[in-house]
Amino acid sequence: MLERVLSIRSRNAQINDDEDDENLDDESKTRKNISFAMRASNQVTKFGVLWPCLLLILIFVLIASALLHSRNIVCLASNDPYYSRLNFFGSIDGLASDFGSLGVPWCRSKLGQTVEWTSKDLLKGLEEFVPIYETRPIKNNMYGMGFDHSFGLWFMARWLKPELMIESGAFKGHSTWVLRQAMPDTPIISLTPRHPEKYLKKGPAYVDGNCTYFSGKDFVDFGSVNWESVLKKHGVSDRSRVLIFFDDHQNELKRLKQALKAGFRHLIFEDNYDTGTGDHYSLRQICDQFYIRGGGHSCFSDSDEARIRTKRKKFWEKALDVEELCGEKEEAWWGVRGYMRDDFNHSNKAISFTEHFQNSRFVESVLDVYWELPPVAGPSLTHQTRYDPARAPSPVVEDGRFGLFKRLGLTRFETSVFNGYTQMVYLQISESA
Ligand SMILES: C[S@@+](CC[C@H](N)C(=O)[O-])C[C@H]1O[C@@H](n2cnc3c(N)ncnc32)[C@H](O)[C@@H]1O
Ligand SMILES: *[C@@H]1O[C@H](CO)[C@@H](O)[C@H](O)[C@H]1NC(C)=O
Ligand SMILES: *[C@@H]1O[C@H](CO)[C@@H](O)[C@H](O)[C@H]1NC(C)=O
Repeated sequence: MLERVLSIRSRNAQINDDEDDENLDDESKTRKNISFAMRASNQVTKFGVLWPCLLLILIFVLIASALLHSRNIVCLASNDPYYSRLNFFGSIDGLASDFGSLGVPWCRSKLGQTVEWTSKDLLKGLEEFVPIYETRPIKNNMYGMGFDHSFGLWFMARWLKPELMIESGAFKGHSTWVLRQAMPDTPIISLTPRHPEKYLKKGPAYVDGNCTYFSGKDFVDFGSVNWESVLKKHGVSDRSRVLIFFDDHQNELKRLKQALKAGFRHLIFEDNYDTGTGDHYSLRQICDQFYIRGGGHSCFSDSDEARIRTKRKKFWEKALDVEELCGEKEEAWWGVRGYMRDDFNHSNKAISFTEHFQNSRFVESVLDVYWELPPVAGPSLTHQTRYDPARAPSPVVEDGRFGLFKRLGLTRFETSVFNGYTQMVYLQISESA
């Protein structure tokens, strides 16, 4: 135990040391540049001014055009949208780095409270989580959680230290495994129609020894569980010490009401889809309102938003232009083109703007804390191609901090693990009256 603490501490120390190194490196680079410039100007005074200047300009133009051409070749050959986003100076063309430029709708909480943890805590957490994630039993968790959300779930479960963890939607059990890494001795209840052990026949899956599974013929939907008896069996009397994790693609307003009724207070939603996307009505969608920054939309095709969206759609798979946001005929941008989707989009119901507005007012009235997990790192580092940074909060590791990204061990992962970010959200809700 002590050894572990020490090794964590020395790793932390390393991070800070390396950061200093990075700064030193930057300084020595500028020093080099300055001395080069001085040498050049000495040459100029020795050999006269005009000819060397013209020569320099000629050389510069030649190099520039060569570079421009090679960039185009790279674009065509690599097929990686990341490269096509590079401008002449090798930086991102105002497209990746402008996190939140289209607004990040954020549900208002009653007293404006926020979470205890800071971005520094997240960074420290990342350092600890990378080696844990490397030992995950399900390496390729297609249709399940990727790196960003696994980290978020692990971080929050560990921070909140619940007495009991309940998950709804386990698939092959990756999220069960993540919860177990965060809290080694805490019981888990998993509600999922198909038992994860069924997947073991075909490949990797995770079945937890201290998890009660409600699955197969024992499956019960979260909204129909008799919590009184289940919690009693688990010896839990304080429902505010229970953490609920939803990854079951159900209407989040429905889940919120069910959790509220049962007296639970800490909820995490995995898929907090942005307006116009996803297979169920989400908190992000609910709080997308005119009075929220980035909320409320114009379906007018000549608007500023429309122009920006058209541009961004070329670069990010999940970005929508206004036609997709609003549909062709009706100008209903809320939910998904005016629909409240539920249950993997097996059900959907048209809602009026008034209903949509009332939903957000209801959510605000029961909300103590709303916190969206930021992406772990900027897209120039992760090379993710799906979520549009313009609709996401600033990442834990910002674009340009490759040294830090590498030191954290994040270069060791396949790009695909960074492609699943969908604004995972933590909610703290009121005690039911
Ligand atoms: C996206 S997967 C979950 C991924 C998983 N959390 C992970 O970490 O990889 C969604 C899961 O929800 C399950 N599901 C479907 N309807 C459900 C319901 N009403 N309650 C709970 N789970 C449900 C599906 O069978 C599926 O296993
Ligand atoms: C379940 O948890 C208890 C208490 O932490 C522990 O002693 C036991 O080994 C665990 N069982 C399994 C199968 O993991
Ligand atoms: C969702 O359901 C609607 C109505 O059934 C359908 O028109 C739409 O194509 C579905 N979308 C997806 C992504 O499955």
